[in-house]
Amino acid sequence: MFDVSELVQPDQGLINPSIYTDPEIYQAELERVFARSWLFLAHDTQLPKPGSFVQTYMAEDPVLVVRQRDGSVKAFLNQCRHRGMRICRADEGVARAFTCTYHGWGYNLAGELVNVPMQDRAYHDDIDKAKWGPTRVPRLHNHKGFIFGTWDESAPSFEDYLGDMVWYFDALADRYDAGLTLVPGATKWVIDCNWKFAAEQFASDMYHVPSSHASALVALIEDPAILAEFQAQSAAAPGRQYAGNGHGSGFALRPDLVPTQAGPDFDAWVVANREQIYRRIGEQRALAVNGHNTVFPNFSWLTINNTMRVWHPRGPGQIEVWSWTYLPKDADERAKQAVRTSTIRTFSAAGVFETDDGENWTEIQQVLRGHQARKTTFNARMGLGHERHGTDGMPGGVTDDMYTEMAARGMYRRWADLMSGLSWPEITDRDEARQQGEQEAHRA
Ligand code: FES
Ligand SMILES: [Fe+2]
Repeated sequence: MFDVSELVQPDQGLINPSIYTDPEIYQAELERVFARSWLFLAHDTQLPKPGSFVQTYMAEDPVLVVRQRDGSVKAFLNQCRHRGMRICRADEGVARAFTCTYHGWGYNLAGELVNVPMQDRAYHDDIDKAKWGPTRVPRLHNHKGFIFGTWDESAPSFEDYLGDMVWYFDALADRYDAGLTLVPGATKWVIDCNWKFAAEQFASDMYHVPSSHASALVALIEDPAILAEFQAQSAAAPGRQYAGNGHGSGFALRPDLVPTQAGPDFDAWVVANREQIYRRIGEQRALAVNGHNTVFPNFSWLTINNTMRVWHPRGPGQIEVWSWTYLPKDADERAKQAVRTSTIRTFSAAGVFETDDGENWTEIQQVLRGHQARKTTFNARMGLGHERHGTDGMPGGVTDDMYTEMAARGMYRRWADLMSGLSWPEITDRDEARQQGEQEAHRA
């Protein structure tokens, strides 16, 4: 048995590395973190018509997400109740029904068992099909095209779960009149590292960029003048970091929407649509909130790189990354191509930044095979005691610098609360008390 209070001390910024390696802790995470949180399932554009489906995972559980005939979406475990085979083995497609390939039980789009081969002869008509459908994901929520689900009936509403993070999320989800679309198909790859390294970095870590990505920056930005300006900007601009409810967002403060990393073809489209973007999310947010983000536990995106992903856990030492490139739905082809190219170069299985990041995470994971290496304590104390609130009128706990680990501490706090087995009302009460305390400390 493990004692959560010995594993992480978020208020001190201390981490025991066994949280990244211990199989028992990992099994507890599946139950206490992933089965109780809201998890990203699919984007609306992946389910264009009745019968459209995608297969995804909620942690290690395979799940089918299906557009119903009435336009609504349902999700259920991709597991046949006869012997547990997958009901559907395709990643995505359009179906009228799902038939298990083992013995042929058939399910409709809503996940109800509707056909049992040889029902009369083999079962003597003695099977109540209504009782033998796959386990349903009981709660779904569609936030501006992003479909989330949770197994936990007692979890807070999705809005309460997001809290102030919605303001940062909407810098992505609500940016354009026509909304977003995904480049078809997820890119998927496996990395030998714990899921928390990836989730935490996207929540909280701008600090690694100048060193981890030094060579990539040089390689990508051919013009030394632009590189020098970029480096001077990121050194000078304080940026901001948001932390709340386990989520995190961090970004530099930019003077203009362009140049983007996608280059001139995309920039031309952005300039032509600048007023629209400002009208939808406000100039301050459009300019500023252009960085790294994680919705707890494992849904992350980089606004400036047009990539979003889920870090599906695969044991304590492995993740499957599912990554998408997203685009403004009504952008012209040249703009879309520019985004696709830049995302492939930066954040894809072979992208220069992506491989830098994965290299660090797998290295740490390998170091943690060592007996002594697992006995150390990690330092997550950056910016501790210097947290700020309400900087620039941005909602929630916002520091006045992006170089801090406030959001990492927030993530481990939520993790610890869930892992301790606290009920959702207890967690919510604690969070509210903390936030109030922080606000009062800030006013004092
Ligand atoms: S396992 Fe699905 S029909 Fe037997
Ligand atoms: Fe990185």
